[in-house]
Amino acid sequence: MKSLTDTYKLNNGVEIPCIGFGTWQTPDGQVAMDSVKNAIRAGYRHIDTAAAYGNEKSVGKGIADSDVKREELFITTKLWNNNRGYDKTLNAFEKSLNELDTDYVDLYLIHWPANKSDGKKINADTWRAFEQLYKEGKIKAIGVSNFLVHHLEDLKETAEIMPMVNQIEFHPGQMQVETVQYCKANNILVEAWSPLGTGRMLKNPDLIEIAEKYGVSVARLCIRWCLQNDTLPLPKSVTPERIIENTKVFDFTISDDDMQKINGMPYIGGSGLNPDTVNF
Ligand code: A2P
Repeated sequence: MKSLTDTYKLNNGVEIPCIGFGTWQTPDGQVAMDSVKNAIRAGYRHIDTAAAYGNEKSVGKGIADSDVKREELFITTKLWNNNRGYDKTLNAFEKSLNELDTDYVDLYLIHWPANKSDGKKINADTWRAFEQLYKEGKIKAIGVSNFLVHHLEDLKETAEIMPMVNQIEFHPGQMQVETVQYCKANNILVEAWSPLGTGRMLKNPDLIEIAEKYGVSVARLCIRWCLQNDTLPLPKSVTPERIIENTKVFDFTISDDDMQKINGMPYIGGSGLNPDTVNF
């Protein structure tokens, strides 16, 4: 990858810009609008939001206010947990389209797997609606988020189309090796949410030491590290300078040695959210 507009190719041929601009925890309103506009100005062409973030409308306005045409942008949103199931998914998707003020979405994800005893059936029903919307051309690619191997295996039993993407928490110390290996083996692109561990990585002395060697910030190091692990990072920031800083990841390469070092780091903090036990 050489620039923000370089792409990964999904298993259905759709091209997805290699870094997405994250908007989780970005407050709705002016902040979301401005940060999306700033991101597009800085060269991001891939914006990641979700119904649950409560900022789809502002993200849509930021996009509409930018100088870049809709078809040059890649927009992802996600189905929230209270709308699982076939009919509810179809309705929730229409609502997201309205909020974003667009007539299609590039990538739609199931935000979290249902994890109760009836979870398998619920995920299958939800996925049927995703497949339907995909076939109708309202979504260019469909995927999941926070799915572990067993959720993907369950889905496979009834799916006509396998997910193109699995968006998971991925940063130093939390590499979810088993899930990533499964996704790679099954041609499912791994997207990295919280590539900076929601900021938790930035004060780690080992990462600081490695970053200093390359003359970069830990944020840049972590984003680059995601790319060199063939995952697609989704860094979030509402700060104009950081939005730009996080794009400067194409002018250095982390050595194999340092990749090994970072890949071998123990858990140094994360969201603590386990898809099998979350109760939202
Ligand atoms: P802010 O949005 O206030 O700029 P993640 O992408 O892992 O979820 O991390 C997002 C957090 O990291 C946010 O708190 C964001 O702060 C902060 N952040 C993003 N980019 C940088 C950066 N380049 N330097 C320092 N902090 C950053």
